[in-house]
Amino acid sequence: MQTILTGVRVNEEPTLGNFLGAYLPMIRLAAEHGADSHINMFIPDLHSFTTPIDHSKLYRQVINGIKYYIAAGLDATAPNVHIYRQSRVPAHSELCWILDCFTSFGEASRMTQFKEKSSDSNNTFVSVGLFNYPVLMAADILLYDAYHIPLGEDQFQHLELARNVAIRFNHKFQQDVFTVPASEAEQIKFMHLENGLRIRSLTEPQKKMSKSNPNDKSKINLNDRPEEASKKIMSATTDSVGTIRFDMINQPGISNLLQIEALINNRPLQDVISDWAGQTSYGDLKRKVADSVAHFLADFQERLADIDDATVEQILAQDETYANEVANRKLHQVQRIVGLRKA
Ligand code: TRP
Repeated sequence: MQTILTGVRVNEEPTLGNFLGAYLPMIRLAAEHGADSHINMFIPDLHSFTTPIDHSKLYRQVINGIKYYIAAGLDATAPNVHIYRQSRVPAHSELCWILDCFTSFGEASRMTQFKEKSSDSNNTFVSVGLFNYPVLMAADILLYDAYHIPLGEDQFQHLELARNVAIRFNHKFQQDVFTVPASEAEQIKFMHLENGLRIRSLTEPQKKMSKSNPNDKSKINLNDRPEEASKKIMSATTDSVGTIRFDMINQPGISNLLQIEALINNRPLQDVISDWAGQTSYGDLKRKVADSVAHFLADFQERLADIDDATVEQILAQDETYANEVANRKLHQVQRIVGLRKA
């Protein structure tokens, strides 16, 4: 049985972009493949403070992060769906250390995300954890023999590192210890994202909608009041072309609105594009999308409020037992191979 695995970081308030680009695709994959694959959706909470955060909020954010999965429609009670915290499965940290010794300083230094974050002037403390981030991520994946890893574009380089480390390790010890995850091209096909899904910033639509963007108007947060979100859509940056068309290069703002409208209503993008083809009122389109977003948020927030902490804790207790079993089996195998345990 194959494993589909992904982790979503929770130390910032998730945006509509995260919801449409990460949560929703994963939940659809879970519905599509849950009968014959394990669906591991975990919270990489040890990754949360590779850059400085407010630690007094972290515990709450993790519990809320799990509620977000469930409110988004993940059936957490399905037998093959596993929700767990990275920090509660110590094998992640232990395998990370072992893999550190099979990862070269050079390849870790080439990671774009590390280069960007370590040179960001807002980041006043560049930790070894930030440097080591992709190796822990490799451990997250390889412990479970996961093959499909739904990810955002900015994470593909980390996936490539996980593949390279797995291949190197298997080759060195002449055994198929780790399943080598699918290539980037295969992952994209699996996620049905050949057309490149990326929800854009509302104020600078050439860029992606980012939860770390300090300009609150650039993003819809999942905890925005519906009226507030609706205002943000109404003031979204568009263009001066004057006709509604899907054209990410020349009309990224309008295209972004069409994309949001399609995804939120679970309609094929082509249908939404045809509905609006040739129309000229950007105001009408914005009102329609604003309305869709406001309805969606009201609904989502109601579902979220209905999930109590006890439900989450019960799911975690069960699934973390499972995750520890699977992960420890792999860790022990690795420990035998590298000589830490009797062969
Ligand atoms: N680095 C991922 C992100 O920021 C989160 C993550 C951590 C992850 N470990 C993972 C995703 C393992 C997939 C698999 O989006």
